[in-house]
Amino acid sequence: MHILHVVGARPNLMKVAPVLSALRQFPRIKQSLIHTGQHYDTNMSDVFFQQLEIPAPGVNMGVGSGSHARQTADIMSGLEPIVLERKPDLVLVYGDVNSTVAAALVCSKLQIKVGHVEAGLRSFDRGMPEEINRLVTDQLADLLFTPSADGDENLEREGIPRRKIHRVGNVMIDSLVRLLPAAMDTKFNGLPDRYVLVTLHRPANVDDDRTLKEILESLLELNSQVKVVFPVHPRTRRRIADFGFDASQLDLREPLPYIEFLALQRRATAVVTDSGGIQEETTYLKVPCLTLRDNTERPVTVTLGTNTLVGQNGGALRAELAKILDGKQKASSIPPLWDGRAGERIAEFLSKL
Ligand code: UD1
Repeated sequence: MHILHVVGARPNLMKVAPVLSALRQFPRIKQSLIHTGQHYDTNMSDVFFQQLEIPAPGVNMGVGSGSHARQTADIMSGLEPIVLERKPDLVLVYGDVNSTVAAALVCSKLQIKVGHVEAGLRSFDRGMPEEINRLVTDQLADLLFTPSADGDENLEREGIPRRKIHRVGNVMIDSLVRLLPAAMDTKFNGLPDRYVLVTLHRPANVDDDRTLKEILESLLELNSQVKVVFPVHPRTRRRIADFGFDASQLDLREPLPYIEFLALQRRATAVVTDSGGIQEETTYLKVPCLTLRDNTERPVTVTLGTNTLVGQNGGALRAELAKILDGKQKASSIPPLWDGRAGERIAEFLSKL
């Protein structure tokens, strides 16, 4: 059996690594990897291949940036001849980025089986491009690997037959568990005992000048109380420059490699973010997470984990952070099947097909 993995953007890489690795236990399964090149900077892509020990992709399509239609279309037209030539039995797609939906569309039309890893997540907010990608990918996929029970429920509600749904747990946590020891050994010079780690890149937060200004003002105010460490996504860096904002009082950094970022998360007093994956990682690490959104496609991080939704207005962020700095963080537990073995469960299942 030939399994082709398609990845494109940074958050795909932590998810593909454990599946690739677990499938190696089954010599009958041949694997190959295609990188669409949606992310292309060294620090958004190459360094993750190195640290997560992902083999170099057979092809890097180099599609780069563009509007959603442009990027999705470029991935589709680039991928079709590759898939036709390689004739995989199954294509695995990951998460909710444009590369995910583009690959699912191409392969399902070519009658090639599609497996979606991290299926079933829903924010119920179609203003998010990722929600559109999730809805379409899940309708097209033949195998849906979910990280938590809410994923199964969402899929069944949308009419997906139960037999296609396989709850395997969270593959992103597999990578975390594997590289946590390396993160524990990572030292940072000049970091105080208490600091808040920030990431920000959602279009809804960074593309509108008033919203971004309000968020940055809250962070600057926060910074007078506790140091704010902020690795800046390229989209956000560009917007800050375009709008002429001055955030230079914050500890601004380039996007960090996986292990270094994990090390910073683990030691942080709190994390403020609009990322999906970081809501999960902080839950596993038991670090308080304040999410700058009104909704989440990962509700278990709120019900069981350390996550609190604070929206985009600074009031809730300040109030929740004050509680954390006061030592009053909410009780939390790690969701079931977030145990570092989700990739193995996927491989075990696929080996029996
Ligand atoms: C994408 C995903 C998002 C994921 C995020 C993680 C979609 C719809 N969104 O958003 O779900 O959370 O990746 O980072 O697929 N850029 C660079 N260098 C790079 C990559 C991007 O400079 O290596 C810049 C480009 O100017 C680009 C912008 O960042 O226009 C946005 O990149 P894009 O791939 O369109 O989406 P992300 O915002 O990264």
